Amino acid sequence: MSLPSILVTGGAGYIGSHVVLQLRARGERVVVLDDLSRGFRQAVIDAPLVVGKVGDRDTVTRVLREHAVDTVMHFAAYTIVPESVSEPLKYYGNNTCSTCTLLECCVGAGVRNFVFSSSAAVYGMPAEGSAAESTPTAPINPYGTSKLMSEWMLRDVASAAPLKYVALRYFNVAGSDPQCRVGQASPNATLLVKVACQAAVGKRAEVVIFGTDYATPDGTGVRDYIHVEDLATAHLDALRYLRGGGASTTLNVGYGHGYSVREVLASVERVSGKRLKVREQPRRPGDPPGLIARAERIRAELGWQPRYDDLDAIVRTALAWEQRLLSDPWK
Ligand code: UFG
Repeated sequence: MSLPSILVTGGAGYIGSHVVLQLRARGERVVVLDDLSRGFRQAVIDAPLVVGKVGDRDTVTRVLREHAVDTVMHFAAYTIVPESVSEPLKYYGNNTCSTCTLLECCVGAGVRNFVFSSSAAVYGMPAEGSAAESTPTAPINPYGTSKLMSEWMLRDVASAAPLKYVALRYFNVAGSDPQCRVGQASPNATLLVKVACQAAVGKRAEVVIFGTDYATPDGTGVRDYIHVEDLATAHLDALRYLRGGGASTTLNVGYGHGYSVREVLASVERVSGKRLKVREQPRRPGDPPGLIARAERIRAELGWQPRYDDLDAIVRTALAWEQRLLSDPWK
């Protein structure tokens, strides 16, 4: 019988690929399941890749058995909010229904630990612009709802089966592997830091600011940007916590403070030494003015200690990654 493995669904994607690297660096056995619909084969370094869908019961059951999986880290999901609004069933199918199938397979195979990629999108528009784990969930788009429904399934399964979980609610993830091995490679990226870095390396002509009339210090939206490397570490901390007998829990992953759109653009200009062409537009529908994590609980419960809580450090890695993609585009 082989040693137990960790199944990383979506391990060929942006966040999952960073977590796989950290797990392998700690000597963990890892197997990746990814359908490559949004992920990249090149992103899976140093771990076996099974190309398949999380909603495919036979494939999942076979992988869990053949690799003696005792822990699942579940990243595979669609994540584009406007797309979720125009194609809601695609999101409920791929995010919620597939998670249901995955959980059924996990219970059947006796998986003990489950780490779930949730999102700050479950909070919708919290009144004060910040959200603690106790803040009422009120998603305002199908993406957020699809994640919240998965959280609920997980909670209920964990009270009926010997499976424990940590659900991590990510705030605004940015940056890339400091060694530049992996990063966000999706062709139609919409996330601010990536878009601004693409403009800085000449891949885009301009950056649009969506809304300059918010009740924020400089009128633009404020978010809690967290380095993907620190986010990845939170998953390893969650694993250690669960293995150590920790109870199921749901935690925000953010730094607890935010930056405005203008501050992000200023950082990209500072780090790149380039002037960005900026165009101001009306607000993007569905954007909250501010969304910042109340982030004390993850430090207390998991002992999480972020190392990259610095906007310029985030931008530096994001920019290095865009420069790498210029000479070595991922397809
Ligand atoms: N923004 C711009 N111009 C752009 C892109 C973004 O001004 O080209 C602004 C937005 O209006 C917002 C901020 O930059 O004020 C951040 O926007 P992002 O699109 O980078 O990220 P969001 O906050 O909209 O959403 C992200 C993820 C979601 C997740 C959410 C949780 O995309 O998956 O964080 O907070 F649900």
